[in-house]
Amino acid sequence: MAAFVTLRDVRKEYRMGEVLIKASDGISFELEKGEFVVIVGPSGAGKTTVLNMLGGMDTCDSGEIIVDGQDIAKLKKKEITRYRRYDIGFVFQFYNLVQNLTAKENVELATQICRDAADAAQMLEKVGLEDRMDNFPAQLSGGEQQRVSI
Ligand SMILES: Nc1ncnc2c1ncn2[C@@H]1O[C@H](COP(=O)(O)OP(=O)(O)OP(=O)(O)O)[C@@H](O)[C@H]1O
Ligand SMILES: [Mg+2]
Repeated sequence: MAAFVTLRDVRKEYRMGEVLIKASDGISFELEKGEFVVIVGPSGAGKTTVLNMLGGMDTCDSGEIIVDGQDIAKLKKKEITRYRRYDIGFVFQFYNLVQNLTAKENVELATQICRDAADAAQMLEKVGLEDRMDNFPAQLSGGEQQRVSI
């Protein structure tokens, strides 16, 4: 049976004037459903590039990125938006919260584009932020901000 996720010879290059940067130089791997995977490599190796492509936030120049039977590298703009919205969960290293919205408003913003969204206040309570719902991201610690984004 085919793996749940298959990357085949995925390439991405950036041209910076004379210099050609190979951000992803023919990456291939397979992941099974339910598998817990860690990607490790030196700084600049292409980890973020691969995760962004897998998350539908970046495109590759060539290769295949097959998730649950469909090649997401070939999806049209609308389809990739759908994929990001309904199929992918992505935790950013730098939270990506909206700075002028409170913790609760940030979560509510996400619930507006989500199917069967849970209650924002209840979810914040679940992660121990019941007393910080009306705080802005700048008033929260790194870990607290990360819990809001999750
Ligand atoms: N927008 C871009 N324009 C030009 N080069 C880029 C761009 N994004 C990434 N790169 C280059 O592609 C390569 C891979 O970058 P990437 O961010 O995927 O590395 P990484 O493995 O996540 O590194 P780190 O561990 O430092 O986060 C690096 O050489 C980087 O400089
Ligand atoms: Mg990175």
